[in-house]
Amino acid sequence: SWTMLNIVEDAVEAVRQQVGEGRAICALSGGVDSAVAAAIVQRAIGDRLTCVFVDHGLLRKGEAEQVERDFVAVTGVKLRVVDAADRFLKALDGVTDPEEKRKIIGREFIRVFEDEQRAIMADGPVDFLVQGTLYPDVVESGGGTGTANIKSHHNVGGLPDDLQFQLVEPLRTLFKDEVRRAGEELGLPSAMVWRQPFPGPGLGIRIIGAVTKERLDLLREADAIAREELSRAGLDREIWQCPVVLLADVRSVGVQGDGRTYGHPVVLRPVTSEDAMTADWAKVPYDVLSRISTRITNEVREVNRVVVDVTSKPPGTIEWE
Ligand code: XMP
Repeated sequence: SWTMLNIVEDAVEAVRQQVGEGRAICALSGGVDSAVAAAIVQRAIGDRLTCVFVDHGLLRKGEAEQVERDFVAVTGVKLRVVDAADRFLKALDGVTDPEEKRKIIGREFIRVFEDEQRAIMADGPVDFLVQGTLYPDVVESGGGTGTANIKSHHNVGGLPDDLQFQLVEPLRTLFKDEVRRAGEELGLPSAMVWRQPFPGPGLGIRIIGAVTKERLDLLREADAIAREELSRAGLDREIWQCPVVLLADVRSVGVQGDGRTYGHPVVLRPVTSEDAMTADWAKVPYDVLSRISTRITNEVREVNRVVVDVTSKPPGTIEWE
């Protein structure tokens, strides 16, 4: 639309003014905010922006490719990809405490990003750090609401508290729906533009128990099936998000063919919400739940039971960790 075009063009112009002939870096997380912010800055300063994508191995099926291939193809962004999956797995080895997982993931992210930062700065100075801060984040950090976060909400992808950079925040005046419209205007992949909220620590906090490569692979498959069936049923906009959680330390007896199985349950956690502060469990039609359950237990080795979480927030949180 005409106004949306103006919002994008104004943002591009403002970035040009701010950055001048300088260089900028931006961490991409796979989410819509950092993607739209990066695409705007790329339009403004081209190759003087370098994006960094730290692949921590905790994203869902297809999401890394979406950044590395589709986003780059559309925007022409200069991107450095770091495959850090092994490093994150090693750092998380044997860790079961949710807050400890978050701390480790946040810490490793900063370390990897800082290494990249140094490599980029070897080609010349960088004065600007791009962040996908939205208007509601600005208001919240201004102390407006006074709501405390119970979990340490680490937004992997927007860090260093580094005062050596000036921040470039092209989305600072926008609400989420405006960011999505800007993303469409910029031609970004629609799976990215319409991606539901997904936590920075990713699947690391959706495995109840220690994180291993095998468990991540199971969860990625189960999650992909749930997302596919919910989308196919046309529920993407109605449902705020639907974490799929692997109860990795729980086993239950099942039967398949002639054999007894002793596998893991996964939990479906579909919720409706306005802002994630409160949520209700989503009344997903039984036939959709049934398809998800059948497919997961047929297609994902080791998962022999699918359960649905029917708890509101409060008292439950949306995530299990
Ligand atoms: P909870 O579980 O607290 O989640 O009801 C509220 C919203 O925040 C997301 N979430 C996170 N996002 N880092 C993030 O970037 C985190 O550590 C984190 N923990 C929860 C969650 O997916 C939901 O949208």
